[in-house]
Amino acid sequence: MKNIRQKTKAVRAGQARTPEREHSDPIFATSSFVFTSAEHAAEMFAEREIGNIYSRFTNPTTRAFESRLAALEGAQYCSGTASGMSAILTLCMSVLRSGDQIAATRGMFGSTVNLFCNILSRFGITTSFHSPSEICSAKLDSATRMIFIETPSNPLCEIVDIGQLAKVRDSLSDCILVVDNCACTPILQQPLALGADVVIHSSTKFLDGQGRAVGGAVVTNDENLANAVHGFLRTAGPSMSPFNAWIFHKGLETLSVRMKESCSSAKKIAQWLQNHPKVENVFYPGLKQHSGHELAARQQSDFGALLAFEVHGGKDEAWKLIDSVSIFSVTANLGDAKSTITHPASTTHSRVQESDRKRMGISDGLIRLSIGLEDVQDLIEDLQLALNSI
Ligand SMILES: Cc1ncc(COP(=O)(O)O)c(C=O)c1O
Repeated sequence: MKNIRQKTKAVRAGQARTPEREHSDPIFATSSFVFTSAEHAAEMFAEREIGNIYSRFTNPTTRAFESRLAALEGAQYCSGTASGMSAILTLCMSVLRSGDQIAATRGMFGSTVNLFCNILSRFGITTSFHSPSEICSAKLDSATRMIFIETPSNPLCEIVDIGQLAKVRDSLSDCILVVDNCACTPILQQPLALGADVVIHSSTKFLDGQGRAVGGAVVTNDENLANAVHGFLRTAGPSMSPFNAWIFHKGLETLSVRMKESCSSAKKIAQWLQNHPKVENVFYPGLKQHSGHELAARQQSDFGALLAFEVHGGKDEAWKLIDSVSIFSVTANLGDAKSTITHPASTTHSRVQESDRKRMGISDGLIRLSIGLEDVQDLIEDLQLALNSI
Protein backbone atom coordinates (compact mmCIF):
# COMPACT_ATOMS: atom_id res chain seq x y z
CA MET A 1 0.00 0.00 0.00
CA LYS A 2 3.10 2.27 0.08
CA ASN A 3 2.78 4.04 -3.25
CA ILE A 4 -0.97 4.39 -3.47
CA ARG A 5 -2.45 7.83 -4.09
CA GLN A 6 -4.52 10.08 -1.80
CA LYS A 7 -7.96 9.00 -3.05
CA THR A 8 -7.09 5.33 -2.62
CA LYS A 9 -5.59 5.91 0.83
CA ALA A 10 -8.78 7.66 1.93
CA VAL A 11 -10.77 4.52 1.17
CA ARG A 12 -8.29 1.73 1.80
CA ALA A 13 -5.70 2.76 4.40
CA GLY A 14 -6.12 1.79 8.03
CA GLN A 15 -8.44 -1.17 7.81
CA ALA A 16 -7.42 -4.23 9.84
CA ARG A 17 -10.01 -6.85 8.90
CA THR A 18 -11.05 -9.15 11.76
CA PRO A 19 -11.57 -12.95 11.46
CA GLU A 20 -15.28 -12.16 10.80
CA ARG A 21 -14.25 -11.05 7.24
CA GLU A 22 -16.33 -7.86 7.39
CA HIS A 23 -16.11 -5.52 4.39
CA SER A 24 -16.99 -2.29 6.18
CA ASP A 25 -15.03 -1.50 9.33
CA PRO A 26 -16.51 -2.67 12.66
CA ILE A 27 -16.91 -0.50 15.77
CA PHE A 28 -15.13 -1.84 18.83
CA ALA A 29 -17.57 -0.41 21.36
CA THR A 30 -15.73 -1.64 24.41
CA SER A 31 -14.05 0.25 27.21
CA SER A 32 -11.50 -2.46 27.99
CA PHE A 33 -9.92 -5.63 26.58
CA VAL A 34 -9.53 -9.06 28.15
CA PHE A 35 -6.14 -10.56 29.02
CA THR A 36 -5.47 -14.29 28.75
CA SER A 37 -3.86 -14.37 32.21
CA ALA A 38 -2.56 -12.18 35.02
CA GLU A 39 0.89 -12.45 33.51
CA HIS A 40 -0.42 -11.35 30.11
CA ALA A 41 -1.99 -8.28 31.76
CA ALA A 42 1.27 -7.43 33.50
CA GLU A 43 3.25 -7.83 30.24
CA MET A 44 0.91 -5.46 28.44
CA PHE A 45 0.90 -2.85 31.19
CA ALA A 46 4.70 -2.98 31.22
CA GLU A 47 4.55 -2.45 27.40
CA ARG A 48 6.66 -5.55 26.80
CA GLU A 49 3.75 -6.68 24.66
CA ILE A 50 1.88 -4.07 22.62
CA GLY A 51 -1.86 -4.30 22.11
CA ASN A 52 -5.29 -3.26 23.32
CA ILE A 53 -5.63 -2.53 27.03
CA TYR A 54 -8.19 0.19 27.69
CA SER A 55 -9.99 2.46 25.20
CA ARG A 56 -8.71 5.68 26.74
CA PHE A 57 -5.47 4.95 24.91
CA THR A 58 -5.83 1.81 22.79
CA ASN A 59 -8.85 0.90 20.67
CA PRO A 60 -8.88 -0.75 17.22
CA THR A 61 -11.54 1.57 15.75
CA THR A 62 -9.72 4.68 16.92
CA ARG A 63 -6.50 3.17 15.58
CA ALA A 64 -8.11 2.53 12.18
CA PHE A 65 -9.06 6.21 11.89
CA GLU A 66 -5.63 7.32 13.14
CA SER A 67 -3.85 5.11 10.58
CA ARG A 68 -5.98 6.37 7.72
CA LEU A 69 -5.53 10.04 8.62
CA ALA A 70 -1.79 9.52 9.16
CA ALA A 71 -1.53 7.94 5.69
CA LEU A 72 -3.33 10.92 4.13
CA GLU A 73 -1.11 13.46 5.91
CA GLY A 74 2.05 11.51 4.97
CA ALA A 75 2.73 10.84 8.65
CA GLN A 76 3.79 7.91 10.78
CA TYR A 77 1.91 8.86 13.94
CA CYS A 78 -1.57 10.11 14.71
CA SER A 79 -3.51 10.36 17.96
CA GLY A 80 -7.26 10.85 17.92
CA THR A 81 -8.64 13.24 20.54
CA ALA A 82 -12.05 14.15 21.95
CA SER A 83 -12.27 17.39 19.94
CA GLY A 84 -10.14 19.73 17.84
CA MET A 85 -9.58 21.91 20.91
CA SER A 86 -8.43 18.93 22.95
CA ALA A 87 -5.96 18.10 20.14
CA ILE A 88 -4.43 21.57 20.57
CA LEU A 89 -4.51 21.35 24.37
CA THR A 90 -3.00 17.84 24.32
CA LEU A 91 -0.16 18.98 22.09
CA CYS A 92 0.58 22.04 24.25
CA MET A 93 0.48 20.05 27.50
CA SER A 94 2.72 17.37 25.97
CA VAL A 95 5.51 19.64 24.74
CA LEU A 96 5.39 23.00 26.55
CA ARG A 97 6.33 24.04 30.07
CA SER A 98 6.15 27.20 32.14
CA GLY A 99 8.32 29.95 30.64
CA ASP A 100 7.85 28.76 27.06
CA GLN A 101 6.36 30.98 24.41
CA ILE A 102 4.04 30.34 21.48
CA ALA A 103 4.16 32.51 18.36
CA ALA A 104 0.83 32.45 16.57
CA THR A 105 -0.94 34.18 13.76
CA ARG A 106 -3.68 36.66 14.45
CA GLY A 107 -7.10 35.76 13.10
CA MET A 108 -7.27 32.16 14.25
CA PHE A 109 -10.30 30.29 15.53
CA GLY A 110 -11.59 32.09 18.64
CA SER A 111 -11.29 29.16 21.08
CA THR A 112 -7.64 28.63 20.08
CA VAL A 113 -6.93 32.29 20.86
CA ASN A 114 -8.84 31.91 24.12
CA LEU A 115 -6.93 28.76 25.08
CA PHE A 116 -3.58 30.45 24.48
CA CYS A 117 -4.45 33.82 26.06
CA ASN A 118 -6.66 32.88 28.98
CA ILE A 119 -5.81 29.30 29.93
CA LEU A 120 -2.21 28.49 29.00
CA SER A 121 -1.16 31.92 30.28
CA ARG A 122 -2.21 30.79 33.79
CA PHE A 123 0.45 28.08 33.55
CA GLY A 124 3.23 30.49 32.54
CA ILE A 125 2.99 29.90 28.79
CA THR A 126 2.66 33.15 26.88
CA THR A 127 1.69 33.82 23.28
CA SER A 128 2.76 36.52 20.85
CA PHE A 129 0.44 37.21 17.93
CA HIS A 130 1.61 38.28 14.48
CA SER A 131 -0.16 39.11 11.27
CA PRO A 132 -0.05 36.22 8.75
CA SER A 133 1.91 38.38 6.31
CA GLU A 134 4.50 39.37 8.93
CA ILE A 135 5.05 36.25 11.00
CA CYS A 136 7.77 34.96 8.64
CA SER A 137 9.84 38.13 9.14
CA ALA A 138 8.94 38.81 12.79
CA LYS A 139 11.75 38.73 15.36
CA LEU A 140 10.59 35.84 17.53
CA ASP A 141 11.73 35.52 21.13
CA SER A 142 14.34 32.80 21.75
CA ALA A 143 11.93 31.23 24.29
CA THR A 144 9.54 30.44 21.41
CA ARG A 145 9.00 26.67 21.51
CA MET A 146 5.97 26.50 19.26
CA ILE A 147 4.87 28.36 16.14
CA PHE A 148 1.16 27.77 15.66
CA ILE A 149 -0.73 28.75 12.53
CA GLU A 150 -4.00 28.16 10.73
CA THR A 151 -3.76 28.39 6.97
CA PRO A 152 -6.22 29.29 5.54
CA SER A 153 -7.38 30.95 8.75
CA ASN A 154 -10.88 30.86 10.15
CA PRO A 155 -12.76 33.04 9.15
CA LEU A 156 -10.73 35.41 6.92
CA CYS A 157 -8.93 32.72 4.87
CA GLU A 158 -5.53 34.36 5.33
CA ILE A 159 -2.68 32.26 3.96
CA VAL A 160 0.68 31.68 5.66
CA ASP A 161 3.78 30.37 3.87
CA ILE A 162 4.46 27.03 5.65
CA GLY A 163 7.83 26.46 3.93
CA GLN A 164 9.03 29.96 4.90
CA LEU A 165 7.94 29.45 8.50
CA ALA A 166 9.79 26.12 8.61
CA LYS A 167 12.98 28.14 8.00
CA VAL A 168 12.07 30.45 10.89
CA ARG A 169 11.50 27.35 13.06
CA ASP A 170 14.97 26.08 12.02
CA SER A 171 16.54 29.34 13.21
CA LEU A 172 15.18 28.78 16.74
CA SER A 173 16.34 26.08 19.07
CA ASP A 174 13.94 23.36 20.15
CA CYS A 175 10.91 24.88 18.43
CA ILE A 176 8.13 23.09 16.54
CA LEU A 177 5.94 24.34 13.72
CA VAL A 178 2.26 23.38 14.08
CA VAL A 179 -0.35 23.79 11.36
CA ASP A 180 -4.08 23.54 12.00
CA ASN A 181 -5.09 21.91 8.71
CA CYS A 182 -8.81 21.95 9.44
CA ALA A 183 -9.84 24.16 6.50
CA CYS A 184 -7.81 22.36 3.82
CA THR A 185 -7.73 18.75 5.03
CA PRO A 186 -4.91 16.56 3.66
CA ILE A 187 -6.74 16.43 0.33
CA LEU A 188 -5.81 20.08 -0.38
CA GLN A 189 -2.65 20.56 1.69
CA GLN A 190 -0.07 18.38 3.41
CA PRO A 191 1.79 20.61 5.89
CA LEU A 192 4.33 17.95 6.98
CA ALA A 193 5.67 17.70 3.42
CA LEU A 194 6.03 21.52 3.42
CA GLY A 195 8.15 21.45 6.60
CA ALA A 196 5.69 21.47 9.51
CA ASP A 197 6.32 19.22 12.52
CA VAL A 198 2.73 18.68 13.60
CA VAL A 199 -0.69 18.84 11.96
CA ILE A 200 -3.77 19.52 14.06
CA HIS A 201 -7.27 18.53 12.99
CA SER A 202 -10.74 19.20 14.19
CA SER A 203 -12.27 16.04 12.68
CA THR A 204 -15.61 17.60 13.60
CA LYS A 205 -15.32 19.52 10.34
CA PHE A 206 -14.58 18.25 6.82
CA LEU A 207 -13.12 14.89 7.92
CA ASP A 208 -16.55 13.87 9.18
CA GLY A 209 -18.27 15.97 6.56
CA GLN A 210 -21.79 15.46 7.81
CA GLY A 211 -21.79 17.28 11.14
CA ARG A 212 -22.31 14.16 13.24
CA ALA A 213 -19.57 14.04 15.84
CA VAL A 214 -16.91 16.08 17.65
CA GLY A 215 -13.29 14.95 17.51
CA GLY A 216 -9.73 15.91 16.68
CA ALA A 217 -6.26 14.61 15.94
CA VAL A 218 -2.55 15.32 16.41
CA VAL A 219 -0.46 14.09 13.46
CA THR A 220 3.35 13.98 13.23
CA ASN A 221 6.44 12.17 12.00
CA ASP A 222 8.38 12.90 15.17
CA GLU A 223 8.52 9.77 17.32
CA ASN A 224 9.42 11.57 20.57
CA LEU A 225 6.63 14.03 20.11
CA ALA A 226 4.15 11.27 19.24
CA ASN A 227 5.16 9.40 22.41
CA ALA A 228 4.71 12.54 24.52
CA VAL A 229 1.24 13.10 23.03
CA HIS A 230 0.25 9.45 23.52
CA GLY A 231 1.55 9.57 27.10
CA PHE A 232 -0.49 12.68 27.89
CA LEU A 233 -3.64 11.16 26.37
CA ARG A 234 -3.12 7.91 28.27
CA THR A 235 -2.79 9.76 31.57
CA ALA A 236 -5.09 12.76 31.19
CA GLY A 237 -7.66 11.17 28.91
CA PRO A 238 -9.08 13.70 26.40
CA SER A 239 -9.39 10.75 24.00
CA MET A 240 -11.56 10.05 20.96
CA SER A 241 -14.51 7.72 21.46
CA PRO A 242 -14.48 4.58 19.26
CA PHE A 243 -17.91 5.42 17.90
CA ASN A 244 -16.78 8.88 16.81
CA ALA A 245 -13.59 7.38 15.37
CA TRP A 246 -15.72 5.09 13.21
CA ILE A 247 -17.71 8.07 11.90
CA PHE A 248 -14.51 9.94 10.98
CA HIS A 249 -12.92 6.83 9.50
CA LYS A 250 -15.92 6.39 7.19
CA GLY A 251 -16.05 10.15 6.55
CA LEU A 252 -12.53 10.05 5.14
CA GLU A 253 -13.70 7.65 2.42
CA THR A 254 -15.70 10.41 0.72
CA LEU A 255 -13.43 13.32 1.65
CA SER A 256 -11.84 13.92 -1.76
CA VAL A 257 -15.11 14.00 -3.72
CA ARG A 258 -16.72 16.23 -1.09
CA MET A 259 -13.79 18.67 -1.07
CA LYS A 260 -13.76 18.84 -4.88
CA GLU A 261 -17.47 19.65 -5.07
CA SER A 262 -17.45 22.12 -2.17
CA CYS A 263 -14.34 23.97 -3.44
CA SER A 264 -15.92 24.35 -6.88
CA SER A 265 -19.15 25.76 -5.39
CA ALA A 266 -17.25 28.05 -2.99
CA LYS A 267 -15.34 29.58 -5.89
CA LYS A 268 -18.54 30.25 -7.86
CA ILE A 269 -20.18 31.84 -4.80
CA ALA A 270 -17.12 34.00 -4.06
CA GLN A 271 -17.05 35.23 -7.68
CA TRP A 272 -20.76 35.98 -7.56
CA LEU A 273 -20.53 37.81 -4.21
CA GLN A 274 -17.68 40.05 -5.32
CA ASN A 275 -19.88 41.54 -8.03
CA HIS A 276 -22.82 42.18 -5.70
CA PRO A 277 -23.40 45.88 -4.92
CA LYS A 278 -24.31 45.22 -1.25
CA VAL A 279 -21.10 43.31 -0.60
CA GLU A 280 -18.03 45.26 0.46
CA ASN A 281 -15.22 42.68 0.63
CA VAL A 282 -14.96 39.00 -0.19
CA PHE A 283 -12.27 36.90 1.49
CA TYR A 284 -11.58 33.79 -0.59
CA PRO A 285 -8.07 32.70 -1.63
CA GLY A 286 -9.38 31.53 -5.00
CA LEU A 287 -10.03 35.15 -6.01
CA LYS A 288 -7.08 36.75 -7.84
CA GLN A 289 -7.21 39.90 -5.69
CA HIS A 290 -6.95 37.94 -2.41
CA SER A 291 -3.57 38.75 -0.83
CA GLY A 292 -2.78 35.05 -0.42
CA HIS A 293 -3.96 33.92 -3.86
CA GLU A 294 -0.56 33.04 -5.36
CA LEU A 295 0.72 31.41 -2.19
CA ALA A 296 -2.46 29.35 -1.84
CA ALA A 297 -2.14 28.27 -5.48
CA ARG A 298 1.39 27.04 -4.67
CA GLN A 299 0.84 25.29 -1.35
CA GLN A 300 -2.73 24.01 -1.79
CA SER A 301 -4.23 21.89 -4.57
CA ASP A 302 -7.48 23.90 -4.39
CA PHE A 303 -8.73 27.00 -2.58
CA GLY A 304 -11.10 25.48 -0.04
CA ALA A 305 -14.76 25.54 0.88
CA LEU A 306 -14.64 28.39 3.40
CA LEU A 307 -15.15 32.03 2.54
CA ALA A 308 -16.14 35.22 4.29
CA PHE A 309 -17.60 38.52 3.15
CA GLU A 310 -18.53 41.89 4.57
CA VAL A 311 -21.83 43.54 3.89
CA HIS A 312 -22.17 47.31 3.65
CA GLY A 313 -23.32 48.58 7.04
CA GLY A 314 -22.44 46.47 10.04
CA LYS A 315 -23.90 44.06 12.56
CA ASP A 316 -27.58 44.92 11.90
CA GLU A 317 -27.24 44.26 8.17
CA ALA A 318 -25.20 41.10 8.74
CA TRP A 319 -27.78 39.72 11.21
CA LYS A 320 -30.65 40.65 8.89
CA LEU A 321 -29.01 38.75 6.04
CA ILE A 322 -28.40 35.73 8.27
CA ASP A 323 -32.00 35.80 9.47
CA SER A 324 -33.20 35.87 5.85
CA VAL A 325 -31.52 32.76 4.42
CA SER A 326 -33.59 29.63 4.06
CA ILE A 327 -31.15 26.99 2.77
CA PHE A 328 -27.95 27.88 4.63
CA SER A 329 -28.02 26.66 8.26
CA VAL A 330 -27.40 29.31 10.90
CA THR A 331 -24.87 27.37 12.95
CA ALA A 332 -21.31 27.70 14.17
CA ASN A 333 -20.02 24.47 12.63
CA LEU A 334 -18.23 24.25 9.29
CA GLY A 335 -17.24 21.46 6.92
CA ASP A 336 -20.72 19.92 6.80
CA ALA A 337 -22.55 18.64 3.70
CA LYS A 338 -25.09 21.30 4.66
CA SER A 339 -23.80 24.81 3.92
CA THR A 340 -23.55 26.99 7.00
CA ILE A 341 -23.65 30.72 7.68
CA THR A 342 -22.12 32.35 10.77
CA HIS A 343 -21.56 35.80 12.23
CA PRO A 344 -18.06 35.34 13.72
CA ALA A 345 -18.01 38.55 15.82
CA SER A 346 -20.98 37.43 17.92
CA THR A 347 -20.37 33.65 17.91
CA THR A 348 -17.08 31.86 17.15
CA HIS A 349 -14.99 34.93 18.04
CA SER A 350 -17.26 36.51 20.66
CA ARG A 351 -14.93 35.56 23.52
CA VAL A 352 -11.97 37.29 21.85
CA GLN A 353 -11.60 40.84 23.23
CA GLU A 354 -13.19 43.40 20.94
CA SER A 355 -9.90 45.28 20.38
CA ASP A 356 -8.15 42.00 19.41
CA ARG A 357 -11.04 41.08 17.16
CA LYS A 358 -10.73 44.41 15.36
CA ARG A 359 -6.98 43.90 15.01
CA MET A 360 -7.68 40.45 13.50
CA GLY A 361 -9.90 42.14 10.91
CA ILE A 362 -13.11 40.51 12.12
CA SER A 363 -15.62 43.31 11.68
CA ASP A 364 -19.26 43.41 12.77
CA GLY A 365 -20.35 43.18 9.13
CA LEU A 366 -18.35 39.99 8.48
CA ILE A 367 -20.20 36.79 7.58
CA ARG A 368 -18.58 33.37 7.21
CA LEU A 369 -19.84 30.70 4.83
CA SER A 370 -18.89 27.05 4.78
CA ILE A 371 -20.00 25.58 1.50
CA GLY A 372 -21.44 22.08 1.48
CA LEU A 373 -22.92 19.87 -1.18
CA GLU A 374 -26.20 21.52 -2.20
CA ASP A 375 -26.72 22.72 -5.78
CA VAL A 376 -24.60 25.88 -6.04
CA GLN A 377 -27.34 27.72 -7.94
CA ASP A 378 -29.75 27.19 -5.03
CA LEU A 379 -27.14 28.59 -2.64
CA ILE A 380 -26.59 31.66 -4.81
CA GLU A 381 -30.36 32.26 -5.06
CA ASP A 382 -30.64 31.90 -1.27
CA LEU A 383 -27.94 34.55 -0.77
CA GLN A 384 -29.51 36.76 -3.45
CA LEU A 385 -32.86 36.79 -1.63
CA ALA A 386 -31.14 37.43 1.71
CA LEU A 387 -29.07 40.29 0.27
CA ASN A 388 -32.28 41.80 -1.19
CA SER A 389 -33.67 41.95 2.34
CA ILE A 390 -31.03 44.43 3.58
C1 LIG B 1 -9.69 26.00 12.57
C2 LIG B 1 -10.30 25.32 13.75
N1 LIG B 1 -9.48 24.66 14.60
C3 LIG B 1 -9.97 24.03 15.68
C4 LIG B 1 -11.31 24.03 15.96
C5 LIG B 1 -11.82 23.34 17.19
O1 LIG B 1 -12.41 22.14 16.88
P1 LIG B 1 -13.53 21.41 17.81
O2 LIG B 1 -14.75 22.25 17.70
O3 LIG B 1 -13.63 20.06 17.21
O4 LIG B 1 -13.00 21.40 19.19
C6 LIG B 1 -12.19 24.69 15.10
C7 LIG B 1 -13.65 24.69 15.37
O5 LIG B 1 -14.41 25.38 14.75
C8 LIG B 1 -11.67 25.36 13.97
O6 LIG B 1 -12.47 26.01 13.12
